[in-house]
Amino acid sequence: MAGFFVSVEGVDGSGKSGMARRLGDWLHEKSIAVVSTREPGGSAGAERIRELLLGSGGILDPLAEALLFAAARADHVRKLIVPTLEAGGVVVSDRFSDSTIAYQGAGSTVDMAVIQQLQQIAVGEHRPDLVIVLDVDPAISMERARKRNGDAGVKDDRFEVEGLAFHARVREGFLRQAATDRSRYVVIDASRTPDEVWGDVRRAVRDALLKNGMELTNSLSLAPLPSPR
Ligand code: TMP
Repeated sequence: MAGFFVSVEGVDGSGKSGMARRLGDWLHEKSIAVVSTREPGGSAGAERIRELLLGSGGILDPLAEALLFAAARADHVRKLIVPTLEAGGVVVSDRFSDSTIAYQGAGSTVDMAVIQQLQQIAVGEHRPDLVIVLDVDPAISMERARKRNGDAGVKDDRFEVEGLAFHARVREGFLRQAATDRSRYVVIDASRTPDEVWGDVRRAVRDALLKNGMELTNSLSLAPLPSPR
């Protein structure tokens, strides 16, 4: 497949949505055909499942949750990701299957063999070429998420529902995944300022694009950082 697939992962409040947005904008500015998307969601059907999942208020059994995340992913992969890659485009996804491994597997302790089977069914060979893990202590990211949710008027965030110990397991889940394949995963210290984190994200993506032989122009060389939005 000609395109390139990158996912941005991390615990709640790690800053990954902002980084995924910045990455999509940067590639677009470099005239690269890029589709920015997110999980759960990204296709019309998967966005409906997202509403169900995020509106469930913690009533779902973790296995049922894992199945729904996988169902959303199957739709997203077939409807959006594969067609984009086949057309030679770059996909930037705010979360992908590593989130299920970390949240439902390491966090909620659904049997890891079941989780892996689900990924095999939903994703198959269409796994990301690069996974960026934004790593931060959940005690720090909880404060960030609380501030953001407070500013947006959102009341009960996932930290309130699941607690800090859950998020510590999720963080470990991401790090364990990253340790299994250093050629596809890049772990970035996300406790720093957004500009510092962005510098590392941009470098990791540029290096991975070069390594994958993506057609490059000078435009991918590292220009000075654009000012933050
Ligand atoms: P978001 O905060 O990135 O919008 O993600 C919504 C929530 O969904 C977040 O708490 C992480 C969770 N999630 C899972 O538990 N499993 C998954 O597979 C995905 C994609 C997200």
